[in-house]
Amino acid sequence: MTTLESPTAVGSGTAATDKFKNERVSADTSPERLAAIAKDALGALHKVILDHGVTYPEYRVFKQWLIDLGEGGEWPLFLDVFIEHAVEEVLARSRKGTKGSIEGPYYIADSPKLPSVCTLPMRDEDKKSTPLIFSGQVTDLDGNGLGGATLELWHADEDGYYSGFAPHLPDWNLRGTIVTDDEGRYEITTIQPAPYQIPTDGPTGQFVEAQNGHPWRPAHLHLIVSAPGKESVTTQLYFSGGEWLDSDVASATKPELILDPKRADDGKNYVTYNFTLDPA
Ligand code: BEZ
Ligand code: FE
Repeated sequence: MTTLESPTAVGSGTAATDKFKNERVSADTSPERLAAIAKDALGALHKVILDHGVTYPEYRVFKQWLIDLGEGGEWPLFLDVFIEHAVEEVLARSRKGTKGSIEGPYYIADSPKLPSVCTLPMRDEDKKSTPLIFSGQVTDLDGNGLGGATLELWHADEDGYYSGFAPHLPDWNLRGTIVTDDEGRYEITTIQPAPYQIPTDGPTGQFVEAQNGHPWRPAHLHLIVSAPGKESVTTQLYFSGGEWLDSDVASATKPELILDPKRADDGKNYVTYNFTLDPA
């Protein structure tokens, strides 16, 4: 682990907020459904206030904290740590293929296209970390290989930083869009990521501390796997025996998503993981 200043909550939060604001988002929600969700959301909050006898000073502190959360650009961070996993759980109800997980705030679309056998872009410093050779196949639910499928892969470096959100890293470091071969296969060389600590210097960090929690996510790879005519899956892969696997601050681990790489005589870690896509 090199000694680097942690990116601040304000720094990475602002970058994540700017990125999100540039995305076009919409939802096909009927006015009736919206009204029902809004009513129940308020009702749930009112229940907490009444059950805990929340006082005026506490209400004002809450108001101030919400203002700080917004001004610090931390909404994407806060929502993706504490809320997104429940939305993903809803999506998972209707899917049979590879289990999904949260996207988090650090996805960047249109990463460089790479062939089925490739190495992710990385700095010379990254090459000092343990190499990880990650191979497998993308198939449909019947096991047919999906040639020309894509795996958008992004992950933190050994110090837990994501390119695009930490100014000292080059664009697209440890990011790429891998295109599978005719049989849906791929073999990607990258490095073992480190556990990720969510920024602790802002309102999200205060919230974690207030719950006596810790700010860590276990080491993970992020992926969006897509193929024509298939439903894309957004997921994450974790590492067997890794720290924080049982207490992920973002509640986003699943037993089906844990890799168990084997160290070979060449000093590299090797692992295979296959993805199965639902029909669109
Ligand atoms: C992540 O996976 O990197 C992440 C997820 C939620 C919030 C912050 C980071
Ligand atoms: Fe992550």
